[in-house]
Amino acid sequence: MKRIAVLTSGGDAPGMNAAVRAAVLIGRAAGADVVGIERGYRGLLEDAFVSLTPNDVGGILREGGTILGSARCKEFHQREVRDRAREILTKREVDGLLVIGGNGSLTGALHLADPKEIGSGRPLKIAGIPASIDNDLGLTGLSIGVDTAMNTIVEACDKIADTATAHDRTFIIEVMGRDCGYLAMTSAIAVGADLALFPEAGKPETEIVDQIVETVLAIRERQRRARKVIIIKAEGVQMQVDKLKAQVDAELRKRQPDAEPSTIETRVTVLGHVVRGGRPSAFDRLLGSRLANVAVRALLANQTHKMAAWMPPVELPEEVGTRSPYDPYCWLVDLGAVLAETENLLKGRSPLARWRAGAFEEIEDALLL
Ligand code: F6P
Repeated sequence: MKRIAVLTSGGDAPGMNAAVRAAVLIGRAAGADVVGIERGYRGLLEDAFVSLTPNDVGGILREGGTILGSARCKEFHQREVRDRAREILTKREVDGLLVIGGNGSLTGALHLADPKEIGSGRPLKIAGIPASIDNDLGLTGLSIGVDTAMNTIVEACDKIADTATAHDRTFIIEVMGRDCGYLAMTSAIAVGADLALFPEAGKPETEIVDQIVETVLAIRERQRRARKVIIIKAEGVQMQVDKLKAQVDAELRKRQPDAEPSTIETRVTVLGHVVRGGRPSAFDRLLGSRLANVAVRALLANQTHKMAAWMPPVELPEEVGTRSPYDPYCWLVDLGAVLAETENLLKGRSPLARWRAGAFEEIEDALLL
């Protein structure tokens, strides 16, 4: 393995830089040349290669985003586009490609290095590192960026809780996560929210509205000093927050006709891209560094089609994944199996998805106390 190229792709995630830095340092120390590709697969198609020396990556692990830049590249679904990408990788004499990203990015890597597509062309080894604040990738306990995103959500919700307490108000706070409710569920626990709404529950709109109204009324009946209500909604719950607010407010007015409307109407905060930015937490710096260590060493050992995973939440048969000899908390899992499990997770078919939703139903009453 003489030359390894690194790219970051898809939605950026805090901690990507830590992974880039570790890849450069570990690869270099082993005698490989490590180069960067700017703006993910889009940059690959534009032949946007940059040199990455230890000097270039000094101090970047403190920075959010990714120094390489990132992009979404829909054209990569086309075989001819991937052929062009392979020509460029051949011209650049790349032996191994390290892809740091989420579901779409790792799918792109799998197709790019598909032996059937490569045919008699220059062989290409690939390794993946899970990076997405959504934590929607299968067979890894965590992806890079999730911890920082959760900390950002908790900080924002703590602030909102102060003003909600002062006014006895109800806040519906929407958090990112695409089709996965992980961030909404875990941050609801971490902020002590009264209710979490996530797509895995599969509830119809009317039930969601009812659930919020019942939660608000139950809390308003309390004789406690503060009667604030914090509801965390995953963006994956398809109902638009404005529509949700309008329906909840109307129902609350109906159920509490004597209350002054301004005292019962809800407030909405959409945290949006704030959740994806910021300096990576200590844990994300560590996670990025450790996963990159394991992934680069796999490439150096001529392994391919693997993703470095952090403590997979399910038992893995040997043909699917093995513990890294370099880090007992990290595993090397088959990339195809990761993507298949990711699909199961997102479609609610995997036992893990069912457990997540079920566990929340079990504690729902406790959240309200
Ligand atoms: O996948 C990460 C993510 O931040 C999702 O949570 C969100 O749905 C999406 O990306 C937003 O994408 P964009 O930045 O392209 O609008």
